[in-house]
Amino acid sequence: MRSAALVLSLAVGQASQWANAQAVATPPAPAAEPANAAASESSADDGTTAATPAPQRRPLPPTVLRRLPRRPERTDEERQELAAQLREIYRKTPSTWPAPAVDAGVKWQEIGLLPDVQHPEDNPLTKEKVALGKMLFFDPRVSGSGQMACASCHDPDLGWGDGRTTSFGIDRKPLDRNAPSLMNAAYHTSLFWDGRAESLEDQAKQVLLNQDEMRSAPADLSAKLGAIPGYREKFKEVFGSEEVTIERVTQALACFERTITGGRTPLDHFLKGRKSALSDEAMLGLDLFRREARCMNCHHGPLMSDGEFHEVGLSYYGRKFEDLGRYDVTGEAADVGRFRTPSLRNFKESGPYMHNGLFPTARGVLNMYNVGMPTIRRHAHQLEDPLFPKKSSLLKPLGLNNQDLSDLEAFLEAASEPYLRMRPPELPPAEPQETAAK
Ligand code: HEC
Ligand code: HEC
Repeated sequence: MRSAALVLSLAVGQASQWANAQAVATPPAPAAEPANAAASESSADDGTTAATPAPQRRPLPPTVLRRLPRRPERTDEERQELAAQLREIYRKTPSTWPAPAVDAGVKWQEIGLLPDVQHPEDNPLTKEKVALGKMLFFDPRVSGSGQMACASCHDPDLGWGDGRTTSFGIDRKPLDRNAPSLMNAAYHTSLFWDGRAESLEDQAKQVLLNQDEMRSAPADLSAKLGAIPGYREKFKEVFGSEEVTIERVTQALACFERTITGGRTPLDHFLKGRKSALSDEAMLGLDLFRREARCMNCHHGPLMSDGEFHEVGLSYYGRKFEDLGRYDVTGEAADVGRFRTPSLRNFKESGPYMHNGLFPTARGVLNMYNVGMPTIRRHAHQLEDPLFPKKSSLLKPLGLNNQDLSDLEAFLEAASEPYLRMRPPELPPAEPQETAAK
């Protein structure tokens, strides 16, 4: 059983150790330094980290953490001047922006406004269906126990997540993964951290039937909801007959979820022409995000996610908290430890961060990116292991200073959807006699 507390102490201990080490280390030249938990065999042989010595492939790499010296800080005047210049550049249409720092072969898309949501042909948008889906989303009676609603783990008051490292399932069983925010889930081309669902309908069905989560069954669902007059009425209104099926339930849920969209971030206002919508810090952060910090290699497009799967060094391969990610879906060795790039539009409210909720704070995540993310060490018996995960070569140590990290954080905040209150709907009562006279 994975214990959330253990995951945290293990990994955050490491993270802060790396972060601290980096804060005190001011080596005159870039150095590959032994540390206790990361072995770098990632590519340092190209591009932006040219100052780093070429990687040495070792049969049994000791744990190595490659740190770049932090680049010098700027004076307040220099920062203001640079922010003003960037503001002039970025206020123009994105096609005139400076090219982002993305590696050869990366099919990137510019950051931008969210397009309209596409509703599938076999599940078109109707107002009534959204209203029904919303009820079902907040109704614990869709679960086997009658106690767990979708909203239990995707609470609009908690940014459509649950604010936990990893979620608790039925009987408070600790689950392995962090509950993603549902804000803008409509735009993802695959769902779950490992992309195992292809549509929101499919995703909802998987959770409903999952023994650790909703523990429902198609027949139960039909019987239980079908016994509630208010629901029979709604299903008739939406689908033409009173029959409650799991397909209809998931269609209504998905239709509702497709209405949980954003596009109200300060970044959106800036892109629409409000020049002052981004602070100087966020302005500097936007430029860092697109260029020096290399984030655009994976977090790009309107959603700030490429929809792809990457290994960023957090699989715990061969260890207690192992999560093979995408590999469990495809069975491809290359997918071991890969997870779907999350959208950063829900950034402010989606902590603790990563598939396993490893980092409680933004700064923890950014410190780790600044050292190129961890590379796990091969044990002697793993030397020939074909499944041993390979960290993405898109990750490289960055050498950013504290100002840069704060600016990046300011940008991520400015790219986050603001809090919007959603009141839970009134649910149809179970007792026929309680319903309003018909
Ligand atoms: C017990 C907590 C829990 C409940 C209840 C729950 N979820 Fe989730 N949900 C999660 C977790 C954890 C994940 C991530 C799991 C993974 O990636 O393997 C997730 C993932 C998702 C995703 C994928 C989001 C993305 O960005 O890929 C959607 C959509 C979703 N849930 C919708 C629902 C709906 C609809 C319901 C109700 C039918 C529901 N959830 C009930 C915890 C929960
Ligand atoms: C190689 C592709 C890649 C690059 C480059 C990259 N990311 Fe990520 N990012 C990911 C993936 C994949 C995850 C999820 C990893 C996991 O859960 O194990 C992630 C997760 C995150 C999260 C956590 C979001 C959440 O909701 O939990 C943040 C924040 C983040 N990245 C910010 C950044 C920033 C800032 C940069 C640039 C410094 C960056 N990323 C560069 C692929 C990338």
